[in-house]
Amino acid sequence: MTNSAPVSARRDLADAPLLVAARGGTPRHTPIWFMRQAGRSLPEYRRVREGVPMLQACLTPELVSEITLQPVRRHGVDAAILFSDIVLPLYAAGIGLDIVAGTGPVVSEPVRTASDVAALPQLDPAQVAPVGDAVSLLVRELGETPLIGFAGAPFTLASYLVEGGPSRNHERTKAVMHSDPATWHALLERLAETTLAFLRVQLDAGVDAIQLFDSWVGALSLRDYREFVLPHTRRIFAGVAEVADVPKIHFGVGTGELLGAMRSAGADVVGVDWRVPLDEAAARLRAAEPDWGPPVVQGNLDPAVLFAGWDVVEREVRRVLAEGKAAGGHIFNLGHGVLPTTEPEVLTRVVELVRDASKQR
Ligand code: CP3
Repeated sequence: MTNSAPVSARRDLADAPLLVAARGGTPRHTPIWFMRQAGRSLPEYRRVREGVPMLQACLTPELVSEITLQPVRRHGVDAAILFSDIVLPLYAAGIGLDIVAGTGPVVSEPVRTASDVAALPQLDPAQVAPVGDAVSLLVRELGETPLIGFAGAPFTLASYLVEGGPSRNHERTKAVMHSDPATWHALLERLAETTLAFLRVQLDAGVDAIQLFDSWVGALSLRDYREFVLPHTRRIFAGVAEVADVPKIHFGVGTGELLGAMRSAGADVVGVDWRVPLDEAAARLRAAEPDWGPPVVQGNLDPAVLFAGWDVVEREVRRVLAEGKAAGGHIFNLGHGVLPTTEPEVLTRVVELVRDASKQR
């Protein structure tokens, strides 16, 4: 594997539990971090975000660095995840969109025809240079804690662009996919290039792992996933592997039927929501690629369980750990992002419990 990223940018964190687990090794304890660990559950986040629009915050390196560090300081998690958003590269490239609080990304001119797709601007890496600057700041601040970079996968990004905003049924997206496959594939090709360019900026600046979010791809059947999504996702993971030898994590919600195919796309670690137990998820990954090494799963505590009182939380954390142990490699996480009204103290206790309960003696 070639590694053309600047040699000095990436730290040597060979013993970091997250990276050991992601590479299929035995870490000193089960690593834990939370999707959406930075954000509205933290009062210190709400304070620094006051009066700063989301996308502007994502392009202000000092603010990105501060917000990314907040949950690491508070909870002692085993990884930081860059504070950004999956739609940031689309916005930076010049596509008219905004993140509306309580709603999500809203696109001013939906993309639905071949000419809409042809007119989509492609990301120039210089347009997200502040993200690279934020990564450079962070790798200096983080010490031994790995930094996860991320991007949105083409299906989920396409869904926002085609629907014009968040969608329950993705009906317009699926209509383009089935009625005009040429336009669909052209759109996903362009989005894959933008995603890859965004990831390269983060990799060149030194992120230690990447996660590709295809949050809404669970809306598809396995058959449609293979035909309309898999080739584009595979292209992204191959492109990452060309520039850096870092662990690649892939995640979506409601993807129980797609887990094997998501591994086949080139992921080292597959994220699992709360619907499929981790040992069963690992069996599906193993069946998809029997010739690859043992599967590594990430997840899968239901984020809503954090509201049920500590006795329930502890029981569920121990169950997830036991199923993760049976799976083989496991990175502890929630099955989806931290809900904004979660009590941060519960998250800190979960980190302590996972660390104590999983120490290698
Ligand atoms: O995990 C982390 O700590 C890093 C931060 C992160 C954000 N967005 C910050 C954010 C990550 C990893 C994302 C990715 C993202 N963005 C996804 C994939 C992950 C997932 O949840 O499935 C998706 C689908 C989006 C699109 C998006 N952006 C949504 C649905 C929303 C929420 C809208 C709302 O207000 O309910 C956003 C905005 C957003 N991204 C916020 C944060 C902290 C909230 C905005 C704010 O704090 O003002």
